[in-house]
Amino acid sequence: TVENKIVPLVASIDVGTTSTRVILFNKKGLEIAKHQIEYSTSASLDKASEGRRNSNRDSSPDAPLFSAEGVAIEANQYLEIEDLDNEGRIDPTLRFPKPGWVECNPLNILANVVQCFTACLVSVATVNKEREENGFDPYKVVCIGVANMRETTIVWSKKTGLPVYKYGIVWNDVRTLDLVTERKKNTPEEKQAYFRAKSGVPIFSTYFSCSKLRWLLDNDEKVKEAYESGDLMFGTVDSWLIYHLTKQKTHVTDVSNASRTGFMNLSSLQYDDELLEYWGVDKNKIILPKIVSSSEYYGDFSVPTNTKSRLTAYAWDLLKEFVSREPAVPIQGCLGDQSASLVGQMAFKPGSAKCTYGTGCFMLYNTGPKKLLSKHGALTTLGYWFPHLDEKEHAEPHFALEGSVAVAGSVVQWLRDNLRLVSRAEDVGPLAVRVPNTGGVVFVPAFSGLFAPYWDPSARGTILGLSQYTTASHIARAALEGVCFQARAILKAMSSDARHEGKKDKHFKNEVKDNTYEQSVLSSLSVDGGMSKSDEVMQIQANILGPCVKVKRSKIAESTAFGAAIAAAMAYENPSDRPLWKNFKDIKENVLYGGRPKEDAFKDPATAQKIFLSNSTTEDRRQGWTRW
Ligand code: G3P
Repeated sequence: TVENKIVPLVASIDVGTTSTRVILFNKKGLEIAKHQIEYSTSASLDKASEGRRNSNRDSSPDAPLFSAEGVAIEANQYLEIEDLDNEGRIDPTLRFPKPGWVECNPLNILANVVQCFTACLVSVATVNKEREENGFDPYKVVCIGVANMRETTIVWSKKTGLPVYKYGIVWNDVRTLDLVTERKKNTPEEKQAYFRAKSGVPIFSTYFSCSKLRWLLDNDEKVKEAYESGDLMFGTVDSWLIYHLTKQKTHVTDVSNASRTGFMNLSSLQYDDELLEYWGVDKNKIILPKIVSSSEYYGDFSVPTNTKSRLTAYAWDLLKEFVSREPAVPIQGCLGDQSASLVGQMAFKPGSAKCTYGTGCFMLYNTGPKKLLSKHGALTTLGYWFPHLDEKEHAEPHFALEGSVAVAGSVVQWLRDNLRLVSRAEDVGPLAVRVPNTGGVVFVPAFSGLFAPYWDPSARGTILGLSQYTTASHIARAALEGVCFQARAILKAMSSDARHEGKKDKHFKNEVKDNTYEQSVLSSLSVDGGMSKSDEVMQIQANILGPCVKVKRSKIAESTAFGAAIAAAMAYENPSDRPLWKNFKDIKENVLYGGRPKEDAFKDPATAQKIFLSNSTTEDRRQGWTRW
């Protein structure tokens, strides 16, 4: 039940591929507190130690790595000596140990989450003091949701809770290329199509968890032993976090995450025996997370004690107080990050779509309770499942078509950390628009193969067309165009799939030419995520999409985190117990329209959505239809 005299907040933990953030949202969707840590990588640690050398600062491994707002963080003693590599460097949170390999350190991620969470508690404590002095009710976090990068595979020991293979194999790691190629070759095409229809995903891609788990079972002795002795737990990042943040009581994964493992049957929403058997995974030997909905009580929030030394005594005391609250604060929302941003953008209606430019670029098209199987290379995925919603149509599991592009923000990071073309990610857009075109340079950033709609795991990044004339600006522009052209390819694939569905849908434009040519395309692309913040990049995207499609930047900057917050806030069975919003309509009214009538809400320039239109002529517009 809701306590009187508090202003309820919902906490969202958002673990992406390159950073972790925690945000506390209020009823209006405003960020009351926020803390983010970008992961250290070998390249960023190199740069940091170079910086330290140059400025004669302490370069010992336990010097502070992260700056933090609102909390004074002690030296990074949490990282133990075994976390240092041969050169005495700290083990990065995200590492690229071999070409095509991408690994994350699950313990560092957990520590980052606790650190971000505590930083938010510190901010709220400070704000609450002021509120109290001014006679306002205090803020109080009432529930917690989790959004996470998907597919990333972690195995840990039930006995110790520690990773058995020290790292998580990240979704864009391509080490299983030979494994999937071999299996695909030996699997008849009808069987491949059968597996695809069952799971919704092309399981012979390196992308999904199934081949990653198989690789671990085949290649790591400790993993094999733990599996044979029944001690091995498997999970994606959501399961790993929820397990540890509930004192190892709850081992679950939500349907949206489970649909990315390649083990779940999209009809039963349970593990599929045939798929498990195909990958040689015996569910009596391995401890799989229970598949649950995206919005229900999973457990009470707690913290693993080994993160203590990263916090000051004051921060630790606040965290202890939070954890020992009565009643305890529940974790009750969980969504894969791309599903979370679909929800966070409030794309609830079948036919609505969103595109998030994170590490990769992911477009999801909500097909409602209906599963569509793509004929053009998109995936079928579980959008979200909010069983406690009263509106019948929303209470059912909602599906989505997904177009996934493996590389988006990561190419910007690569330009920054590996090529050192810029010192900050946000400088790439301005660098790219210094030139009107790429000067003939073509950059295909296929670092992890090509995902939708091509599904070529063996493709690798290429830069073509270099000449003496080429500058850093041309390369930056070509990199951005490489991403934007892939976004166009997935939009095109999805438009083809959704064409018939979309005929009566206001989100689609249809054009019939001479009664022979019919085309349909999403009339606008709602974008969010890191790269979408850049006007330059979004203008390049609008130009590449052409005149048929508007690019609309989401009004909710942190859509992913906000989606997880919505999942948590909707998990109360009884609507009258819901402390923030009673239903989806209520969320829209409070968050999008600020409590005003919808028509008036968008008149305010401060809240108006930024829309990018292609720089094209009417003639281009006419031809645009043909191009699509
Ligand atoms: O499928 C991978 C995806 O979930 C990663 O998302 O935001 O880290 O690019 P992001």
